[in-house]
Amino acid sequence: MAAATASTFSVGSTLQCGSKMSPLSQSKATSAQFNFNNKLRSYSGLKVATAFSLESESAFSGKDSRAALQASFACKAQNQSQRYSANNQISSSFKVAVLGAAGGIGQPLALLIKMSPLVSTLHLYDIANVKGVAADLSHCNTPSQVLDFTGTPELAAALKGVDVVVIPAGVPRKPGMTRDDLFNINANIVKTLVEAVADNCPDAFIHIISNPVNSTVPIAAEVLRQKGVYDPKKLFGVTTLDVVRANTFVAQKKNLKLIDVDVPVIGGHAGITILPLLSKTKPSVSFTDKEVEELTVRIQNAGTEVVDAKAGAGSATLSMAYAAARFVESSLRALDGDGDVYECAFVQSELTELPYFASRIKLGKKGVEAIISSDLQGLTEYEQKALEALKPELKASIEKGVAFAQKQAIAA
Ligand SMILES: NC(=O)c1ccc[n+]([C@@H]2O[C@H](COP(=O)([O-])OP(=O)(O)OC[C@H]3O[C@@H](n4cnc5c(N)ncnc54)[C@H](O)[C@@H]3O)[C@@H](O)[C@H]2O)c1
Repeated sequence: MAAATASTFSVGSTLQCGSKMSPLSQSKATSAQFNFNNKLRSYSGLKVATAFSLESESAFSGKDSRAALQASFACKAQNQSQRYSANNQISSSFKVAVLGAAGGIGQPLALLIKMSPLVSTLHLYDIANVKGVAADLSHCNTPSQVLDFTGTPELAAALKGVDVVVIPAGVPRKPGMTRDDLFNINANIVKTLVEAVADNCPDAFIHIISNPVNSTVPIAAEVLRQKGVYDPKKLFGVTTLDVVRANTFVAQKKNLKLIDVDVPVIGGHAGITILPLLSKTKPSVSFTDKEVEELTVRIQNAGTEVVDAKAGAGSATLSMAYAAARFVESSLRALDGDGDVYECAFVQSELTELPYFASRIKLGKKGVEAIISSDLQGLTEYEQKALEALKPELKASIEKGVAFAQKQAIAA
């Protein structure tokens, strides 16, 4: 396809974003490509109708440096340019399915995914009626088509041809509950849904949000194994919310510019298995022992902070949707050929003696391209102790998930 011209990139009238360039960005606006980049940024993620800045894009996309971000957008712009049709409409090519789309997380997550320029079709599935959510979302003048699927008979159709499946289906915590208390209900839900994924879109990236993630990811892996389609590079437990929280709390505590802060969070996604590596914070910042203790405990209990504040009305939904949308966007960028996408996620891993472990990973077109081991080197004594302390609990949760899936297979 011929290279797109400057006029091809002028999509403002089509997208009607009403965004303005910042002085910083204007000084860098030297080419048609920049025009395109600006339109794309103002349109994507969370910045419709706001003055765009590189910083805000970085927050959403999980990049850890501005240079990497710019490089990533140049790459994205190139790829996008090839998908522009003659009438200047984006013809994005990825299909995303949200299973549990009528729920507290599902609805705002669907809205955020609907805003992505990389999505062509958004499938919303739930056992509850999801027609209204889909009708509502479909009125947003963003390019993706929204389709609704309600109940088990429509599950296969919801998954056909899908590139990324996001699973927030299940029950959330109430005050006094641990994530593990959700096991009995959510284990079955995840098992059933992942069986359908195996049958209908075995090559898709699978994002597991349903708790307890430390067990539901091993359940999903076993189910995929039993079906003969397990690709460990494409199964992710979504732990992005732990990173989002760590970044927010550290920035607040140290009075840092929020957008610059990047804290890797490793281990798992429950209580003490959530281990923020504060010593690896970027930009480099020092903490007193008391600050480390307070921040670590707050990040580990942040979910409970929300559960208690909602007083019986559920757990984190809006921040979770934001975090999950960031992970979806990162996955789509990787699928789109961006070679510079890093996120933390709970994946099959050889970083420790545990079979699954959350750490920073590099995402590529085929899923996990690399597991970043350097974060685990040079840990402080506090972090090293916390790492050893989390292992028995994480191991037990993983084994509980594996045992559940194996028992179900024997029973069947
Ligand atoms: N990974 C994380 O960081 C994180 C953070 C917050 C919440 N969560 C988890 O996400 C899950 C969802 O939370 P929520 O607040 O959106 O709950 P919710 O109850 O508001 O929504 C769950 C939705 O799932 C649907 N559902 C139930 N069974 C289903 C099935 N078999 N197939 C399809 N859909 C089904 C329900 O109808 C409902 O619409 C919970 O398990 C919660 O613990 C994870």
